[in-house]
Amino acid sequence: MSDIRIGVIINGATGRMGTTQHMANLLAIAAEGGLPLANGDRLIPELMLVGRDAGRTSALAAAHGNQRWTTSLEEALAGPDQIFMDCAATGDRPRRVRQAIAAGKHIHIEKPTAPTVDEAMDLARLAERAGVRHGVIQDKLFLPGFAKLLSVSRSGFFGRILSVKVDAGSWIFDGTEQDCQRPSWNYRKSEGGGLALDMMAHWRYMIDRLAAPITDVCALMNTAIPERVDESGKRYTVDAEDTNYALLKLQGGAVGMITNSWATRPRRDDTMVVQIDGTQGSAAAGRFRCFTQSAADTPEGFIAAARPGGVDLMAHWKEVPDSQESRNPFRQCWEAFLRHVGEDAPYLPTLVEGAKAVQLADLAYRSATEQRWMTVPELKL
Ligand SMILES: NC(=O)c1ccc[n+]([C@@H]2O[C@H](COP(=O)([O-])OP(=O)(O)OC[C@H]3O[C@@H](n4cnc5c(N)ncnc54)[C@H](O)[C@@H]3O)[C@@H](O)[C@H]2O)c1
Repeated sequence: MSDIRIGVIINGATGRMGTTQHMANLLAIAAEGGLPLANGDRLIPELMLVGRDAGRTSALAAAHGNQRWTTSLEEALAGPDQIFMDCAATGDRPRRVRQAIAAGKHIHIEKPTAPTVDEAMDLARLAERAGVRHGVIQDKLFLPGFAKLLSVSRSGFFGRILSVKVDAGSWIFDGTEQDCQRPSWNYRKSEGGGLALDMMAHWRYMIDRLAAPITDVCALMNTAIPERVDESGKRYTVDAEDTNYALLKLQGGAVGMITNSWATRPRRDDTMVVQIDGTQGSAAAGRFRCFTQSAADTPEGFIAAARPGGVDLMAHWKEVPDSQESRNPFRQCWEAFLRHVGEDAPYLPTLVEGAKAVQLADLAYRSATEQRWMTVPELKL
């Protein structure tokens, strides 16, 4: 039984995800003495923080136990660290990942892995050919609400699945009266912005695994707020969509619907809700809670609903209880990847899965432009 140190480069360490998720979870694993492997060894992550701003990166490193840091990605990649995490802004990610593959690093990156499916598959093939381990962050099904929805689905509760609806989004301020809650690069196509590219990366794996694989997509997109104010107070023109709608066909005949917007004021339990309807039951989940209604619990809700107060549609739903301790989703992503690298454990979200997510966005963009249904082809290495 030995302690094995494994160097992890975090590129984009000073960003929101870099600091609050990737650095924080890896430091937590290290603080607990490392990740225990099946043979009793412990894998201890050692971080190399990479940021563009020396002042902010050095301050972050100092504030978290004097971690190693640099402003030069080249310098970090030339070092002995084995894993490369890219959680910098989405734009230009493929170039950074190619550099890391060329340097022989294992690749574990944020979604979306690339701006187009072709580039995303190129990265997957490059990583495969180089013999490095590769993965993408797919965290949402580790959130307690969606994890419960997944186990409800796997239990066969729904019978034949008829439909899956994703209703997600919230109001993102334009920066004039109140600060915008999202970095301005999200609204610039050239920097990797766009809601479909951002969020289809989640909807693809969620719908594929919660209901059935997506076979066709038809999308409509728009930019609700065309002008915004950036971090320095400067007004700019938005050239990426902030709202998208998609209709989906799923294997087996179910239908999917995605309503996703950064220009909506939600009046429901959560900003991200997925409902699945099946012949034997339905379930609706947000990030934290999941409710089911079985066929036997289904109230008459058609005739009674025609008069005020005739039916309480919120009654007759049962909350799925917590059956296990809820653990940080990003921590779970990291543990799976570290085990994949450290002990060859089976691993699902490879860069091919990452490319599938980008593929849905890619096809949605084409569908919106060409105003037609797009078939989702199988992706092969
Ligand atoms: N898995 C998830 O649920 C989830 C959630 C949010 C964001 N993300 C992804 O994480 C990534 C970062 O998002 P964020 O919200 O942390 O953004 P952010 O703007 O807070 O952080 C991005 C970081 O990248 C740096 N950066 C910007 N442009 C750069 C460039 N050209 N080269 C190198 N560094 C650059 C910024 O200085 C910042 O430190 C994005 O790819 C995003 O899609 C994933």
